[in-house]
Formats: sequence, C-alpha cells, structure tokens
Amino acid sequence: MTPPRILLLAGSLRTGSFNRRLAEAAERCIAAAGGDVEHITLRDYPLPIYDADLEEEEGVPETGRRLHARFAEAQGVFIASPEYNAGTPPILKNAIDWVSRVRDQGGQDAAFVRPVFAIASASPGGLGGYRGLMALRQSLTLQLGATVIPQMVSVSRAHEAFEEDGSLKDERSAGFLRTLSARLVKLASAIEPWRD
Ligand SMILES: Cc1cc2nc3c(=O)[nH]c(=O)nc-3n(C[C@H](O)[C@H](O)[C@H](O)COP(=O)(O)O)c2cc1C
Repeated sequence: MTPPRILLLAGSLRTGSFNRRLAEAAERCIAAAGGDVEHITLRDYPLPIYDADLEEEEGVPETGRRLHARFAEAQGVFIASPEYNAGTPPILKNAIDWVSRVRDQGGQDAAFVRPVFAIASASPGGLGGYRGLMALRQSLTLQLGATVIPQMVSVSRAHEAFEEDGSLKDERSAGFLRTLSARLVKLASAIEPWRD
C-alpha cells in the first residue's frame, strides 16, 4: 500500500518555536506509523493580510495557490499551533483564509474537505493552547467542512516539556501524540479510496 501523504506545519514562525518542536515530534511519530511526511513552514509561504480589494484586483497570491496545492495533494494534515489570546494566531488564520479563497484547483473542498486533519498545540501556559485549538477546529469544521480527528494534544509548560532530542518528557503526552499521529495515518489511508 502506498503510504499516505501527510502535510505537517506549525502555526508559528518563531525561532525556537515550541509548536515547531511539537510538529517535529509529531513528524517522527507519523513516519513511524507509516506516513509519508512533508514538513513545511509558513515562512516559505509569505502572504499579505487578507484584503478583499487586493483579491479583487490581483486574485489569490501565487504563494496562497501553492499552499492550497500542498493541502490538496495531502491525504492528512497535521497542524501544531499556539493560541494567541485564546484564538488562532494570525499567521495561520491568514494562510487558511487565503487558501479558502482559491476557487479553481479543486477549490475549498480539495484543500479542506478531502484531507483528514489532526491538531495539536503547545504553550508555556497551563492550558497548553487548548482554547486556540477549539477556535481552529471551529474554522476547519463549521465553515470549511474538514474532518478533524476529535482527539487533540495540548502541551502545557512547553518551555520545560521537551528533552534535548526533541521528544516529550512526559510519557503520557508522548503517548497521546503517538496515538493521534497513528490515527491520522490510519484515517488518511482509509479515506483515499473514496476521495473525489
Ligand atoms: C499576541 C500573543 C498572544 C498570546 N496569547 C496566549 C494565550 O492566549 N494563551 C497562551 O497560553 N499563550 C499565549 N501567548 C504565549 C504563547 O503561547 C507563546 O508565545 C508561545 O511560545 C508561542 O508559541 P511558539 O513557541 O510555537 O512560537 C501569546 C503570545 C502572543 C505573542
């Protein structure tokens, strides 16, 4: 069986980002579960803040269309994102908003309805970014029609949560991440035969 293609990204550009570390830990789990991972950074997809006038005049920027293609090619998408003021950080929300405006290339469905999504967060705070995941889940499911795996991983006190090698110190959290990653790979494989 061909391994499912899993796109992986973090909702932070910060050097030393805890969410990128979490994404890297997930990358190892997804690969171990048999997924073919493509780890991208939103740094490579710079986009202006969404502006309807700009879209009217120039259409969706080429970077937004390229990002749409990455989503559309994937059978699974793993997003690790911080919460900003209990919501989705602008870098990630803006990318999702632009991708949702691509009308050809399979449109919104290709990018959001077809892949299976798994979401996770890390924060130095006590809630681990959990509330931001609820906001992200709401956008993906209620508006964009995505299938988002119910289980989520939130890593609190992220500044002290990782080993030197990037693995999670807490075995329970590490286990949750392995389970979520394996579930993503399994569902992404299962979904392929009935994708449009
Ligand atoms: C504008 C802003 C808002 C934030 N709001 C929250 C918040 O609501 N909850 C939280 O746990 N951390 C919040 N933080 C702290 C982030 O969780 C922290 O900066 C984290 O390290 C960002 O993720 P990263 O390490 O992947 O870049 C906020 C940070 C910024 C810059």
